[in-house]
Amino acid sequence: MIVDDERFMRTTLREALHSWNYKTIEADSVAAAKREFNREEPPIVLLDIDLPDGSGLDVLSEIKENRPSTIVIMVTGNVDVPNTISALRGGAYDFIGKPVKLEELRITLQNADEIHSLRREVQQVRNERVREFSFLEIIGESEPLKKVIELSRRVAMSDVPSVLLYGETGTGKDLFARAMHYESGRVNSPYVAINCAALPATLIESELFGYEKGAFTDAKQRKEGLFEQAQGGTIFLDEIGELDLPLQAKLLRVLEEGEFRRVGGLKDLPLNVRIIAASNKDLKRTSEEGGFRLDLYFRLSVIQVDIPPLRERGDDVLLLAQHFIDRANLKRRGTKLTGLSSEVAGIFKRYGWAGNVRELRNVIERASILEDGDQVTTAHLPIDMVGGQRRSVGGESGIALPPNGVSLEDVEVELAKQAMTRTNGNLTQAAKLLDISRDQLRYKLKKAGEYETSDAEARS
Ligand SMILES: Nc1ncnc2c1ncn2[C@@H]1O[C@H](COP(=O)(O)OP(=O)(O)OP(=O)(O)O)[C@@H](O)[C@H]1O
Ligand SMILES: [Mg+2]
Repeated sequence: MIVDDERFMRTTLREALHSWNYKTIEADSVAAAKREFNREEPPIVLLDIDLPDGSGLDVLSEIKENRPSTIVIMVTGNVDVPNTISALRGGAYDFIGKPVKLEELRITLQNADEIHSLRREVQQVRNERVREFSFLEIIGESEPLKKVIELSRRVAMSDVPSVLLYGETGTGKDLFARAMHYESGRVNSPYVAINCAALPATLIESELFGYEKGAFTDAKQRKEGLFEQAQGGTIFLDEIGELDLPLQAKLLRVLEEGEFRRVGGLKDLPLNVRIIAASNKDLKRTSEEGGFRLDLYFRLSVIQVDIPPLRERGDDVLLLAQHFIDRANLKRRGTKLTGLSSEVAGIFKRYGWAGNVRELRNVIERASILEDGDQVTTAHLPIDMVGGQRRSVGGESGIALPPNGVSLEDVEVELAKQAMTRTNGNLTQAAKLLDISRDQLRYKLKKAGEYETSDAEARS
């Protein structure tokens, strides 16, 4: 788009541009320029500053507001310093003085073209990432999950400096951390993730904070740490409970002062990074036992997001199973799984899912490899899920001690009830599943008020 009030100028530019295979539109005033811009959305604008009804700088600011990727080249006979500064601040790409040297214009346009397509590409990739990592990708419609997504969204939008994500292994902490970044105002700045358990304590400090040249024997050059790389954005500190105590003190200082120091450095450097810390351990208890700084725990837990375990998300387990089935079908051509058999759906809803969504994903992936029909059946499930074999408690069994403990008696009753449900109330079979005698089971059920002699007795 050529914006100039002098007809001769517009003609000269138009003819040159057409000879270089550009298409053009024209405007001769601020009002016309705004109107044409909004109608045609030209990628490049040649913009005069002195226009009869105002300043081209106004057009510039409107363009930049509506379509920031537009390239605006100021073409003006009046290149004074204040104008230049305002135009550059306002996002102008370049200046061309009048009278226009056509060769100079041609080269400027060529560069602008390239920049414009790069900008568009970057924007596209960004949009894709935002979509890929947003809360929309987190599957589930149960109340507990909807609540935690709603809370996370609000936290993401607000600019709280730190968030503590708590959840058992496989509940989606990575997913939530990324979604919080991509749905925050920090979306165009870096997201940096580090697993505090993955590196030895000696390396973590220089990884996180960087070091100065000469800080230690191998420090031949200054190195930026992850905190610096995340400047303006978000850092995800996974398994924060594994950080050793001296580093916890340094992290606390970052949170409290908004400053950090490179290893071997003498100055404090300002830092603007949101910290999302994650843990699958009960940090409060760890603090009370001396393994985690209580002050850091309090600081981090000002905003704590608890991601519920899969077994507390009701029918989400079925939605997620379908999601992973669809994904497996996409990945493996020829697979034609459509869903779960009703028996499997029942088992999924009762199962403990100690490994949460990750465990479910693995179970479905396994089933999609073993598949021989269109449904996931018990034949595709790991044997201990189906209950064909006695299993020991712990590990992969699906039984895990909740972080805040549990009443052992309640667990007994719950398992006794499950055994009864699974065997359709057959006391003998249920007792077998629990590896106790019929009388013991009857006694336990009675004590819990779960046993009516007449009809259960009749069935067994
Ligand atoms: N609600 C969900 N919707 C879709 N996929 C999910 C959901 N929750 C988790 N997943 C998937 O399950 C897997 C495990 O999730 P993730 O790695 O985020 O768990 P985590 O809490 O970080 O576990 P850990 O404590 O072991 O690091 C990932 O593949 C993730 O994409
Ligand atoms: Mg994780």
